[in-house]
Amino acid sequence: MLRTDTAVTVYRKDYTPPAFAIESVELAFDLDPRRTVVTSTMRFTRRQADAPLTLAGEALELVGIRLDGQPFDAYRLDDGDLTLTGLPASGTLEIVSACNPAANTTLSGLYVSNGNFFTQCEAEGFRRITWFLDRPDVMAVYRVTLRADKTAYPVLLSNGNLVAERDLDGGRHEAVWEDPFPKPSYLFAIVAGKLQCIEERITTGSGKEKLLQVWVEPQDLDKTRHAMDSLIHAIRWDEQRFGLELDLDRFMIVAVGDFNMGAMENKGLNIFNTKYVLANAATATDADFFNIESVVGHEYFHNWTGNRVTCRDWFQLSLKEGLTVFRDQEFSADMMAAAEIDDAGDGSSARAVKRIEDVRVLRQVQFPEDAGPMAHPVRPDSYEEINNFYTVTVYEKGAEVVRMYQTLLGRDGFRKGMDLYFQRHDGQAVTCDDFRAAMADANGRDLTQFGRWYSQAGTPVVTVHTEWDATSGTFTLKLAQQCPKVGIETRPGTPDKQPFHIPFAIGLLGADGKDLPLQLDGEAMPSGTTRVLDFTEASQSFRFVGLPKGPRAPLPSLLRDFSAPVIVDADYSDEELTFLLAHDSDPFNRWEAGQRLATRALLKLVGDVQAGRELELDRGLIGAFRSVLTDTSLSPAFREQALMLPAEGYLAERMSVADPAAIHRARQFMRAGLARALQTDWLAAYEENATTGPYTPDPISAGKRALRNLALGYLVETQAEAMYALAGQQYQQADNMTDRFAALAALVNNFAPGREAALADFYQRFEQDPLVVDKWFSLQGMQRGDVGPHAGKRTIDTVRALMQHPAFTLRNPNRARALIFSFCSGNPAQFHLEDGSGYAFWAEQVLALDAINPQVAARLARALDRWQKYTPPLREGMRAALERVAASDKLSRDVREIVGKALSAASA
Ligand code: TRP
Ligand code: ZN
Repeated sequence: MLRTDTAVTVYRKDYTPPAFAIESVELAFDLDPRRTVVTSTMRFTRRQADAPLTLAGEALELVGIRLDGQPFDAYRLDDGDLTLTGLPASGTLEIVSACNPAANTTLSGLYVSNGNFFTQCEAEGFRRITWFLDRPDVMAVYRVTLRADKTAYPVLLSNGNLVAERDLDGGRHEAVWEDPFPKPSYLFAIVAGKLQCIEERITTGSGKEKLLQVWVEPQDLDKTRHAMDSLIHAIRWDEQRFGLELDLDRFMIVAVGDFNMGAMENKGLNIFNTKYVLANAATATDADFFNIESVVGHEYFHNWTGNRVTCRDWFQLSLKEGLTVFRDQEFSADMMAAAEIDDAGDGSSARAVKRIEDVRVLRQVQFPEDAGPMAHPVRPDSYEEINNFYTVTVYEKGAEVVRMYQTLLGRDGFRKGMDLYFQRHDGQAVTCDDFRAAMADANGRDLTQFGRWYSQAGTPVVTVHTEWDATSGTFTLKLAQQCPKVGIETRPGTPDKQPFHIPFAIGLLGADGKDLPLQLDGEAMPSGTTRVLDFTEASQSFRFVGLPKGPRAPLPSLLRDFSAPVIVDADYSDEELTFLLAHDSDPFNRWEAGQRLATRALLKLVGDVQAGRELELDRGLIGAFRSVLTDTSLSPAFREQALMLPAEGYLAERMSVADPAAIHRARQFMRAGLARALQTDWLAAYEENATTGPYTPDPISAGKRALRNLALGYLVETQAEAMYALAGQQYQQADNMTDRFAALAALVNNFAPGREAALADFYQRFEQDPLVVDKWFSLQGMQRGDVGPHAGKRTIDTVRALMQHPAFTLRNPNRARALIFSFCSGNPAQFHLEDGSGYAFWAEQVLALDAINPQVAARLARALDRWQKYTPPLREGMRAALERVAASDKLSRDVREIVGKALSAASA
């Protein structure tokens, strides 16, 4: 359905409690794909004298209303909303409505996917099922009756416990579900269709038996084991780390192929994108296995952080999302560390690998968001469409904010804060301030200033200067922080920004590369080798005393383990970075030093490309790479992270005017140079890191495959026949998707002679498996366009041809993301061609998608957020494309907000 929405801005300051409470809801569904009839029976209580009751509704047909059993007609319908007047202080309201799930392409509300019924209610999808107070601070208990044809829909699921089942006349059947826990409407769910499950029974810490199920289409049953194992691990972990138990008797996961995001934490009935459930060795990569564990954990952890304690309003979204992302990050880190400890390590390198991956996402996606037209605080102050605020800022930066509590209070202090949070707020809908108060009160700490992390947007830049007094052995660290206004903060009338409370972790390295004991001025004696400094002023000095005297100053290791989401501006020399890369006891900062070195060298090459100078690869960088590659005391997983070059998008952000073509040339030059210079070392790494025995996705073997396949990628980059053959052989002989796909990617990206045959072979092998076909599309959307004799070949032409492929459809979000998003957001050099071909394609696809699925269209629309950062011809091309989309008279509210904000930033 096409909508033309006018922009209405919702403000956090306008929050008012609901005029009515709805204590209980009975819902009866007569399921039919074209016309499903829903009967909703609500017990309500008035909370404000005289107020009318306005219920939200969207795309619904009204069949009838009764109050306390009598027909009721004191109502008004406008723009979907249903306003009832003259209601008593309490009563029972029955509303019968109808909707059309088969025609619902938005995938919000009740919809049909591959012949089965599913729902998605967060954030505001419940109003597409029935009229309701569709806001998270209205919590009710639900009883749900599902009726449907028994042959077409043998399985009928909803939240909570199954209380009755029976057959009905006419080949139909019925199931009744009850969820004993009061919940907001966004956590409601039903599923109906031809599904099968694997199940397990487990006993929780307190001795209660629970039933766990993973539901999928029959052909996918052999891909559910890993999701089930992940769920069991998540349940155990939450018991151990946070003392939180599963509260329902039954917990279900259901996979669906058409889904707007990753997964959804509906109470007792999590619904997942198939991408985050289905996996076996032949079809899923190590990364897929890893992501499944993390998303299964994430949704499970929401049962406490999100469901038992929920959000008062959608501005508080990070209350549940930031906290739950932090919890899933810690879960993954603990799982990886456990595997490393079993393998005779101490777990620290595995933890660092997880931290590096998370920080990489933060820098590549969240930092740009925080510097662009959609910049917003972790707790936004306004929105036009709430679906646009499920962002990396709310999720990933929100998780960093939660992590900072743990850094400031320690693990035990953080746990005390969590305990107090549940003690105070179990069963309530609360705010980010309530969470902060629990952390502060449980620890007797003043976290007032820390609250600015919730109210101010932007990435603070911390500038570091140091002084060394050789005669007294005193090292002075001078920190200054800056965070200019960004995004919506630049509008007139916004208050000036104040300094953040930054937990700044630091260590000092001596000449031998070992950590020095730390003693701050005023302390009686040294203690520890890493200190978390409370950096709270605009500029502040910290004096470390009692250090070994002499001309050589200690070398600071700054922001260890990335203790705050800031940019550290420090003028290390190449020699100092090489030293940190070799010696820092903080593995995160070893990686960081390598990234700084590579970034510096790359940005210099970019300048050389732009100036038409001859390119030359820095000797020192080659040496640093060789030392990492050949240092077998480092885990393969860590080495792979350290040897991966900074992404093109990250480099673009580091330039004042981004030039994607020059960045790509420079980065390719460095890749090819490192490939040739270290050829024998890459080959050795390739051979040494072969895994033996049957495939398992454990982090140790996955780390070996990661390094081996990184090596393969570099080796094929040499364009040598023998290396093409090596990749071809790995492609053919692989017994798992990780190795097969890595080999395919190496062949495709380097335009190897066997490229077309391998692509065709891959499609043929896996055409029955949608998730693998997605990989096939995505690889081609991201492929390079300018290698050797193929220089000038445009990826856009391949992408347009693939849009005509019989397996392509815009209606399936995974498929659209696989081809279109991978090209527009994952292939900067080819997307930003100066001929504007990428931008024209973007505009077409945003408009086409918007008519089908506004949420997905709005995500694609964000690909042009940073248009002002590019060279003039690109900037103008993007502005024209944005204006073309903005000129459409049938835009959704979702897309209108994104392009509107992008264009209005032009004048700022
Ligand atoms: N709350 C979900 C999560 O983070 C994500 C989510 C929000 C979502 N809105 C959605 C998923 C819409 C699908 C569709 O786990
Ligand atoms: Zn979540």
